[in-house]
Amino acid sequence: MTTAGSAGYGTYRLDGLPARVTIHEVGPRDGLQNEAAIVPVEVKAEFVTRLARAGLTRIETTSFVHPKWVPQLADAAELLDRLEPAPGVRYPVLVPNERGLDRALERGVAEIAIFGSATETFARRNLNQGLESQFAMFAPVVERALRHGLRVRAYLSMCFGDPWEGAVPVEQVVRAGARLLDLGCFELSLGDTIGVGTPGHVAELLDGFAAAGVGPERLAVHFHDTYGQALANTLTALTKGVTVVDASAGGLGGCPYAESATGNLATEDLVWMLDGLGVETGVDLTSLVETSVWLADRLGRPSASRVVRALGPADAGGSD
Ligand code: HMG
Ligand code: MG
Repeated sequence: MTTAGSAGYGTYRLDGLPARVTIHEVGPRDGLQNEAAIVPVEVKAEFVTRLARAGLTRIETTSFVHPKWVPQLADAAELLDRLEPAPGVRYPVLVPNERGLDRALERGVAEIAIFGSATETFARRNLNQGLESQFAMFAPVVERALRHGLRVRAYLSMCFGDPWEGAVPVEQVVRAGARLLDLGCFELSLGDTIGVGTPGHVAELLDGFAAAGVGPERLAVHFHDTYGQALANTLTALTKGVTVVDASAGGLGGCPYAESATGNLATEDLVWMLDGLGVETGVDLTSLVETSVWLADRLGRPSASRVVRALGPADAGGSD
């Protein structure tokens, strides 16, 4: 395997970027939740372990959602039991409601994420709640989680567009996002669930949050790469002061309740760009590519990541 990263071709800085970016790895959760064939729990555990070894320090591991809604993640408890926690690595899990929190607490998790919607239609389809009633579902979850000393992240989906409702006004997104943060969440991840956002839209949304008193230090970005915009959108967010970026190893991902969602921004593609810009991530690209090649072989399909394809063996994951 060729192992040179982009920094092997020189480091070229751009003004206005942070010195360091934290990658919130969502491959085991957002990536695998969309796989139709059930992935064996031991493969999931090895995937998470390899990601930690590659230097990722936030690995979203699974979800305590209804197993009928996302059968792929029905093994959440068993997966957590199999993990050998690595020092300095956080393993957040998604939790939508009180039942999910009970299950997470039973497993002793230290960090959860609630996941709201900026639109009515997706709130109904993804959570079986309305845009307004979702907050009543989340409030006691966050309150009780904080009482137990957990960290709570929040996601907001459909921030840049919704497959059923079309354009989503910036003010509507800011209002919903601020309400999630007000529940007591330490960070809000802005989801482009179906990947329709473009850089100017990212800038306008971040400006909208700033005007409402929510600075970039409380925000993360979560781009799906359906239309190839994820890296450009990420770079825009970094120039606006965001330093936490969600990404998925190998570009796995999607949301089973939003058909037009494809994979997330690939972690390897993100690391390639940041290495070349001299922005630290702490991630070893070679080890990460090896992990995605290994997983592609298990899934029987090549990785969607351009960097994995460029650096990995030509036959990884079988032919296209
Ligand atoms: P519901 O059917 O309305 O649930 O589902 P309910 O509260 O009416 O309860 C019905 C039954 O389900 C009860 O059992 C509950 O105990 C049980 P019964 O009393 O009938 O025997 N139940 C549960 N069991 C296990 N775990 C639970 C749970 N909750 C209830 N947590 C619910 C409501 C929220 C549970 C459901 O809609 C759900 O699971 N949704 C999750 C969908 C999902 O995971 N989507 C993908 C993640 S979001 C995403 O990918 C976007 C993101 O990446 C950001 C972006 O890209 O934009 C984060
Ligand atoms: Mg997502």
